[in-house]
Amino acid sequence: MEEFHKVRRLPPYVFEQVNRLKASARAAGADIIDLGMGNPDLPTPQSIVDKLCEVVQDPRTHRYSSSKGIPGLRRAQAAYYARRFGVKLNPETQVVATLGSKEGFANMAQAITAPGDVVLCPNPTYPIHAFGFLMAGGVIRSISVEPDESFFPPLERAVKHSIPKPLALILNYPSNPTAQVATLDFYKDVIAFAKKHDIIVLSDLAYSEIYFDDDPPPSVLEVPGAIDVTVEFTSMSKTFSMPGWRMGFAVGNERLIAALTRVKSYLDYGAFTPIQVAATQALNGDGSDIAEVRNIYKRRRDVMVDSFGKAGFEVPPPPATMFAWAKIPEKFRHLGSLEFSKLLVEKADVAVAPGIGFGEQGDDYVRLALVENEHRIRQAARNIKRFLSTADETMHNVVSLNAHR
Ligand SMILES: Cc1ncc(COP(=O)(O)O)c(C=O)c1O
Repeated sequence: MEEFHKVRRLPPYVFEQVNRLKASARAAGADIIDLGMGNPDLPTPQSIVDKLCEVVQDPRTHRYSSSKGIPGLRRAQAAYYARRFGVKLNPETQVVATLGSKEGFANMAQAITAPGDVVLCPNPTYPIHAFGFLMAGGVIRSISVEPDESFFPPLERAVKHSIPKPLALILNYPSNPTAQVATLDFYKDVIAFAKKHDIIVLSDLAYSEIYFDDDPPPSVLEVPGAIDVTVEFTSMSKTFSMPGWRMGFAVGNERLIAALTRVKSYLDYGAFTPIQVAATQALNGDGSDIAEVRNIYKRRRDVMVDSFGKAGFEVPPPPATMFAWAKIPEKFRHLGSLEFSKLLVEKADVAVAPGIGFGEQGDDYVRLALVENEHRIRQAARNIKRFLSTADETMHNVVSLNAHR
């Protein structure tokens, strides 16, 4: 029987192959250090959990909630943008709460895409950026992820040669997976380009608060007039260690926000009210919880860069996000990122995300998530050192996993 049209557009998740290996190694008793998935391991701050527990006691909160987000939550998100970026938003018309930023992004694609619409998407990037539009019937044209002047010539070519002219341009800085950060000057050039060619800008700012330099990453909405063409997505998953709560936001251009809100009003009733109330409290907090999370990731980053470097696996220090993006050591690069990642599970008990899972331009790299504690990151480095030092032997003597254990 032929596969369904939509399902055919969704190839099996590359990461699944590493996950399967990881699961079978664990079942065989291996202690796999998991730097693969970007699933924060830190607990949600207690005050946020307490608020949820308090609010859930009120039966009125058990009813359907508000699809676009309760008013206090939307006001809190607008206040965050004002405080953090100096961007003024109308919480009634320019803010919508989403069930995580991933859902918001995917449903924005549903809301604005006609079959065959061309969307400019960085490569490598977080998979939903491309697949959200592919599911919506769009066509992807890959662009560079480098936030500098080299970003623009391929864009110019895309505008000249795409039929129809591109509908939207996706930005994701700080980037998952590359961890690159964009400057406000870069955003100014992007917005000028988008306005000139009448292109929608969708910015994924999921890592707005996970940065390690003195300069916090800017919002593209800080560019004067950006709101004419832009919607930006943020997430509570990383900022407040709330990945399982599914709470995010889309903010920006009223027409685009209205389109997303309309689609969502047909699909969901909003997050559970106690989650929305607890999220409101989190956003209105004094920022100390966020600073703590940031410091933990920073220490882990420093430990990873140092210990992996000493182990012979160079990891450039990421300026932001909870990921390092590391080039596969030279002698393994020909294997490609999937085979190298499998090898790391089998021979070093370390799971990473193969770069190919983020697009073909990622195949020389692996992504390392900072979701294990410092002790285990050091252990991962020791395992990798052992693997690298015995690689010649093991590479010529690849024993199947079952025989090996
Ligand atoms: C760039 C980026 N956008 C969005 C998401 C999804 O976030 P959420 O949990 O808010 O759906 C992630 C999660 O890893 C991400 O890395």
